[in-house]
Amino acid sequence: MRLAICSSKGGVGKTTTAANLVAVLAECGRTLAVDADPQESLGRSFGVVAGSVDSLAGLLDPEGEGDSDTAIRREVLPGLDVLPAHPSLERVGTSLALQGGLTTSLRRALRPLQDRYDHIVIDTHGDNGNLTLASVAAADAMITVFTSDPGSALGAVRTASFLNKHRDFENSSADLLGAVCSNWDASGATAREVAGALAGTDLVVFDTRIPYSRRVPAGTLAKRPVVLGAPNSRVAEAYRELTDEVLTRYAKAKQLAS
Ligand SMILES: Nc1ncnc2c1ncn2[C@@H]1O[C@H](COP(=O)(O)OP(=O)(O)O)[C@@H](O)[C@H]1O
Ligand SMILES: [Mg+2]
Repeated sequence: MRLAICSSKGGVGKTTTAANLVAVLAECGRTLAVDADPQESLGRSFGVVAGSVDSLAGLLDPEGEGDSDTAIRREVLPGLDVLPAHPSLERVGTSLALQGGLTTSLRRALRPLQDRYDHIVIDTHGDNGNLTLASVAAADAMITVFTSDPGSALGAVRTASFLNKHRDFENSSADLLGAVCSNWDASGATAREVAGALAGTDLVVFDTRIPYSRRVPAGTLAKRPVVLGAPNSRVAEAYRELTDEVLTRYAKAKQLAS
């Protein structure tokens, strides 16, 4: 599976979802976590900090000297490699867009690595911009994330249309597996309203909801995702259930497509 995690809004829980998903996926298959957000938060979730050359920025830069051997950090956890970002990825993206190679850049960079991994998970910036398009073009599946905030639910709907548009343009063949509600405040009236509003759209929402938990930011500080740092917590359990659901929906989507 090559999974892109996208939303048109930042701060909804994409990076946290990516970090926990890859930690679980790595337990049963070779996994590569790709940080395609110049804010470089996914790498930092595992304590990986890169420079402009030994990162995705260096790997994608047509004028650069980066290569996958220096950019990829091996065995950050057993079974997990990390391809970190760097703020210069923003500039590399702009330069590739001017030259016309941006959309396919990540797909081309990952192609020679694909056979080494059972799963590749790509974390993106909270927008529907160029690097997000490159991520979706490199993926064969996508999930979007929203919270109990109504604005983020609208963002999830917009992200679904973004993918549909680029499937029509043949920039991507990724299947939208569904929308994850994260940071979920089950007792709040707003959360119920948001869930109700989404039920009236054709966006598929995952059954698993990720609850709000103070253990999540604590895990980020400790550079250890909550599924590893507090494995028996409710939020860790939810991330494990979500991983199962993502794999099941991915298998179904591919079965339907064949
Ligand atoms: N389930 C959760 N419970 C509590 N805080 C969360 C949860 N998920 C994410 N957060 C916090 O919300 C903030 C944004 O999350 P992040 O994953 O960085 O979002 P994004 O990548 O979409 O910008 C972070 O401070 C993170 O620790
Ligand atoms: Mg993020």
